Formats: sequence, structure tokens, C-alpha cells
Amino acid sequence: MSEPVGVALLGCGTVGGGVAKLLLEHGDRLEQRSGRRLELRRVVVRDPAKPRAVVIPPALLSTDIAAALHDPAVHVVVELIGGTDLARRVVLDALAAGKHVVTANKALLAAHGPDVFEAARKAERTVCFEAAVAGGVPIIRALGESLAANQVTAIQAILNGTSNYILTAMADGGKSYADALAEAQRLGYAEADPTLDVDGSDAAHKLAVLAQIAFGVTAQPHEIERQGIERIDVTDIRYATELGYTIKLLAEAWSSPSQVGKSSSRQDAGDRPDDLRPDDLKTVALHVAPVMVRKTDMLAQVRGAYNAIQIVGDVVGETLYQGPGAGMMPTASSVVADLIDLAVGRAQKTFAAARLWSHRDRGFTVEPSEKVRSRFYLRLAVRDMPGVLADVCRVLADEGISISSVIQHEAVEGHPEQSVPLVIMTHYAETGRFRSAVKAIDRLGTVATPAVSYPVDD
Ligand SMILES: NC(=O)c1ccc[n+]([C@@H]2O[C@H](COP(=O)([O-])OP(=O)(O)OC[C@H]3O[C@@H](n4cnc5c(N)ncnc54)[C@H](OP(=O)(O)O)[C@@H]3O)[C@@H](O)[C@H]2O)c1
Repeated sequence: MSEPVGVALLGCGTVGGGVAKLLLEHGDRLEQRSGRRLELRRVVVRDPAKPRAVVIPPALLSTDIAAALHDPAVHVVVELIGGTDLARRVVLDALAAGKHVVTANKALLAAHGPDVFEAARKAERTVCFEAAVAGGVPIIRALGESLAANQVTAIQAILNGTSNYILTAMADGGKSYADALAEAQRLGYAEADPTLDVDGSDAAHKLAVLAQIAFGVTAQPHEIERQGIERIDVTDIRYATELGYTIKLLAEAWSSPSQVGKSSSRQDAGDRPDDLRPDDLKTVALHVAPVMVRKTDMLAQVRGAYNAIQIVGDVVGETLYQGPGAGMMPTASSVVADLIDLAVGRAQKTFAAARLWSHRDRGFTVEPSEKVRSRFYLRLAVRDMPGVLADVCRVLADEGISISSVIQHEAVEGHPEQSVPLVIMTHYAETGRFRSAVKAIDRLGTVATPAVSYPVDD
């Protein structure tokens, strides 16, 4: 049997605890899969006295990061501390010390991918990160290896389990956003400070990682437009249900055949013209937003804290991957799969071939979502008086947007002065033109409160 692989675990919290458990309790199974023993040799934490979900042999436990990084018996450093500053230093030092790195840290990759991957190439070491996107779902391998014969044309993904849990509780239980969030916090699906989960930032970090693999683009934070779920009202959930949709926080990438002058689009992602060669796809729009998805769509069926990623490839067509996007053991499953790949020697080969976060240009640039064509849901509170609907229709028509359906309920009897909801579904339109129309509608004297709108996926 070959020499064991020495592993240092930096961080032994939720994910690190799961990794330690797998290494300590399933060593034989892992050895059989890798051909080498994966031996836990160091565990570094902030507070060794803290009670842990798994019993770590005291001789392995310390607070000494440098000693772990420079231990000749350690071949792979597993970074599970989180954050970006310390994690970046630790990963760069580990690579410089000649260790391979496994990380679950999407924030680190989104912020410092180019530095980290350049350092790894320089040191001729490998960085693996299967757990960084969608926890236990093997999406990095699927996208980077199994779909390697394709040019990806679209990605639509539920990448934040907390948001999906909240939206599911609002849709199924009729709960308000605040009540659904409180429930998610009580059950451990949301942090005490849920900001990064509910405002779309966490999903945007993960989308940046997927976009690097699928399109070779290094998206800057401002290039990923994001809208969170904090302002979703139960009224919109009810209208969505009435119209046959459900609202999901989706991270989306739409590639566009820019030189034939055609906009990227939900409309044509799966239905491209025959004369369009994949090499013509040159721009990609990236954004995170609540989207109305048809109830019959596979993404609409993804409930609770689960994640799902739908990828359209020019060769394979539409594919879907679903599973637990976080949690101790699902995430540890992905981290340990990376350790096995390193032990076998597979990871080193795919890492070298993929040249991620390098300057190798695959011809894509990131463009704003303005050109993405979509249908839209628009909810207005309007005064109940003649001509209001005509005003709104005129503004939409001025931007070339046609209406597919309208729902307007009557004003409360005896209170004609009160505003009434007006819900409009549009036909396909460019996002930029729709946004201009919404701005103009908000300026109409007959519209009582700012418009609420979401893209509609059909
Ligand atoms: N949680 C998930 O389900 C999940 C899913 C996918 C990816 N991830 C990613 O995985 C990473 C880890 O997340 P987590 O949820 O496991 O975090 P966590 O539970 O907060 O654990 C963090 C660990 O890092 C240790 N640590 C923090 N600062 C340290 C320092 N200065 N020196 C040494 N150790 C230090 C902590 O030590 P103490 O235990 O002593 O405090 C703790 O063991 C993050 O990048 C996260 O984004 C998490």
C-alpha cells in the first residue's frame, strides 16, 4: 500500500467537524477508494477547549496554524476557517510551503481567485473546492469535468438554502418574510445575522465561481447584479400562486451571441438558431434575483434548504443537479471527495488542464443584464380612477413592451379613494427597457407606491 496522505484541518466547526468525523470513523472505506490512507495529522482551531461534535484526539488539536502549514508530515491543508483575510493568507502560505489545498470557501474564491490560483500554479500545487458551491452537490465536477465537451449557454440555480427555506415557508405556510426568517433561525437554517444569505451576496459569490468554470470570466462583485428576498411580500407570493408560478431566488448566467446582434435570453437559451456556432457566444450576463418560476418547472419543486443547479450545454441540452447545499455531513462529503481525488492524483491533472482564474481568454466578457430578454411581473398600487390602466399601458408601449395579462381587483366598497393592486404580466422584453418603463411608471401621479417587479421564467 502507498504512503498515507497527511491532512491538516484548519477549522473544525460545522464543516471541519464533519470532515474530521469522516476521516476518523471511515478511514478504511476512504483508503479503499483512494488507494492510500487519508490520515488526519493536525486540527487547528481558535479555542481548543470548545466542545465539538466529534472527539478529536487531543494530540492533534492546537491553535498553531504555522506549525500545521510547515509540518513535513502534512501533504494537504484543508481550509475551513471561512472569511477572506486570514483564509487568503493561510491558503497562500500553505501553497508556498508545498501543500495542496482543499477549501469550501466561496467568498475567498470570489474575492481572491486569481491570486490563489496563480500561487498554486507557481508552486505546482492544486486547489480543490467542490464544497464551495452547493455544499453536497457535486456541481464543480459536473460542470468542469462531466460537461467539458459543452459550451454552457445558461445556468439557473438555487444556491442559497436559507433563502429557499424562507421562500418555501412563505409559499406553503402563508408566512410573512419576518416570520419565515424567524422560523429559519430557530431551526438553524439561518444565521443570527442572515444578511449575506438573504441579500443575494452568498449566491453571487457562488455564481462567480460557476461563471469562472463555465465561461472563464472573473466576475467583479459589481458585475453581478443582485436583488435579495428581503422585500418580497406575501401579496406577491399569492399572485404568483394565482398565476401558476412560485418565487425562487435564482443565480443566473445567460450567454449571448453578441456578434449576431441577438440579446441573451430566457427565450432562446434552449432554442438557439441553427446557424449559430457555439464559438459565437461571447458575452455573459450574471445576476441574482427573485424570479417567478412556473410551478411545473423542476426548479420550482426544490423546497426547503435544498440547492439545485440547472445547466444548459450546447451538446447535452438541459441538465439538473439537486441536493443538500449545506450542513455538516453533506459539505464534508464534498471536501473528502476532493481529498480522495488528490490522493488518487486525478485532481492534479484536472487542475492543470482547466487553468482556472488564469489570464487564458475564452472570449467571454461580462455584460450588464440590461440586454437579457425576459417576461416580467409588475405589481402596482394605483388609484381607482379612469385612465390609470391606459397610462401604464402607454408607458410600457413607449418602451416596446406588450402586455400578456392583467389582474385588477375592485376597490373596497365605500372607499374609492383607496389604492388598488394592479398586476401586469408582460411578454418578452429587454431588461433595460423594462427598468426604464418602471421608472416612468413610478413617476405617474396615479401610482401610489413604488412598483414591485420580478422577472418571469417561462
Ligand atoms: N456550514 C456549511 O454548511 C457550509 C457549507 C458550504 C461551505 N461552507 C464554508 O466552509 C467554511 C467553514 O464554514 P463552517 O460553517 O464550518 O464555519 P464554522 O462552524 O464557523 O467553523 C470555523 C472554524 O474555524 C476555526 N477558526 C476561526 N478562526 C480561527 C483562527 N483565527 N485560527 C484557527 N481557527 C480558527 C473555528 O475555531 P473554533 O471552533 O475554536 O471557534 C472553527 O472551528 C466557510 O468558508 C463556509 O463558507 C460552509
